[in-house]
Amino acid sequence: MTDQSSKPDGKTVFIKTYGCQMNVYDSERMKDVLAPIGYRPVETADEADLVVLNTCHIREKATEKVYSELGQMRKLKDRSDGRMTIAVAGCVAQAEGAEIMRRQPAVDLVLGPQAYHKLPEMIARVHRSTGERLETDFETLEKFDALPKSREADGPTAFLSVQEGCDKFCTFCVVPYTRGSELSRPVDDITLEARNLAAQGVRELSLLGQNVNAYHGVAPAVSGGSDWTLAQLVRHLATIGGIDRLRYTTSHPRDMDDDLIAAHGDTEELMPFLHLPVQSGSNNILRAMNRGHTHEHYRDIMRRIKDARPDMALASDFIVGFPGESDKDFEATMDLVRDVNYAIAYSFKYSQRPGTPASEMFGQVPEDVKTERLHALQALLREQQSAFNASKVGQTILVLVTGEGRQAGQIHGRSPWLQAVHFDGDASLIGQIVKVDIIGASLNSLAGSSVAGKKSVAATGAVGDMVAGRYGSIA
Ligand code: 5AD
Ligand code: SF4
Repeated sequence: MTDQSSKPDGKTVFIKTYGCQMNVYDSERMKDVLAPIGYRPVETADEADLVVLNTCHIREKATEKVYSELGQMRKLKDRSDGRMTIAVAGCVAQAEGAEIMRRQPAVDLVLGPQAYHKLPEMIARVHRSTGERLETDFETLEKFDALPKSREADGPTAFLSVQEGCDKFCTFCVVPYTRGSELSRPVDDITLEARNLAAQGVRELSLLGQNVNAYHGVAPAVSGGSDWTLAQLVRHLATIGGIDRLRYTTSHPRDMDDDLIAAHGDTEELMPFLHLPVQSGSNNILRAMNRGHTHEHYRDIMRRIKDARPDMALASDFIVGFPGESDKDFEATMDLVRDVNYAIAYSFKYSQRPGTPASEMFGQVPEDVKTERLHALQALLREQQSAFNASKVGQTILVLVTGEGRQAGQIHGRSPWLQAVHFDGDASLIGQIVKVDIIGASLNSLAGSSVAGKKSVAATGAVGDMVAGRYGSIA
């Protein structure tokens, strides 16, 4: 329930986010454009004046969830005597547009990922019952330009969108159709947003893009010259006072250049974690997927990144049961997983997406075979994930404290390798980078025994006297 009386003009918004981190970021930006017109975010849909479902279209299951959630929202809307406005945003909105309004008449407006800056105008139109209620044009730069330059930070970690869209056209994927073509934000815009977040106490920035390592943004006005790469951007952001940790996600093997690999070795602030999806370990399947790389090329990148930074945690995405995938192809994926050894990975059964080339391919794999392969792959990945977490037991590591735990006196944070760490400590440590002795590990998190000492990393990123190693672990 929301407290209607404390609001300046009685308007509340509930945003439900599905899918990737880009959607999480976009939901935050929608809150930013709605704040000036008086919308205050609330935690539940009950009694919210505006409900936004920020949707994901990547697999069939994700899309189905949206329609079933809309059914629930319709009931709430009926109870509010129609006062509630329902908006569908994100990739389902982009892909299915008017179809959504047809299937669920309770939906008032539909807007694609490039239209969030138009949300206030569209809400006003709905209230006046005039004009267009569907906005799914591709104008990425217009979106970036029109969004407010400052945003409210929510804790010591933040996402920052630097690139959007995809030109790779993997044959299974809807993203090139829902997010449009690859586009990078200018370095100056990103720097402004990063400084603003740092000033609010953000210490860890995750740079986002559908193909983030394809980044090539307009160089800073003072430097002139040609577009900057992601490696240049990372080195630049690392110099911002207060920004002690940088990450980037998600990358494509084709865009993993030498300089970015080198940056992992020479830029302290760049965290030792790389999410580099490979999807399959079979060259036949990689070709059918139009990935534009072989498994040998991928293995070579993984080897070189480990050479640059030996404690690197490696992550990937996998699809099993892509059309034509034989037992031998699947075994090649298992071999690759055994060889690379992942800290974490996400795996999915191939899902036929209308309009994508793979959905029309011969050799669709039966559901039971997909299920069997997924179980086998996930069992192996779970083993590797547990072993990776267990390898930290006995070490003293640097943890960015992000919040209070469920029990009194407990806090939690993030390791350099993106693991959740739970330990005893005071809430006043939130936002600090502290040393924690790791005494236990499970599949999904680490347990720490104590805060060995407080450490505040200097603005330059120099690690200071409490840290012996340069790789986040001290032991
Ligand atoms: N079926 C199954 N998984 C998919 N992904 C993308 N499209 C599909 C699909 N049609 C997975 C890929 C990608 C991740 C975000 O989702 O592994 O890297
Ligand atoms: Fe989809 Fe491939 Fe683009 Fe990734 S690189 S968003 S999987 S088309």
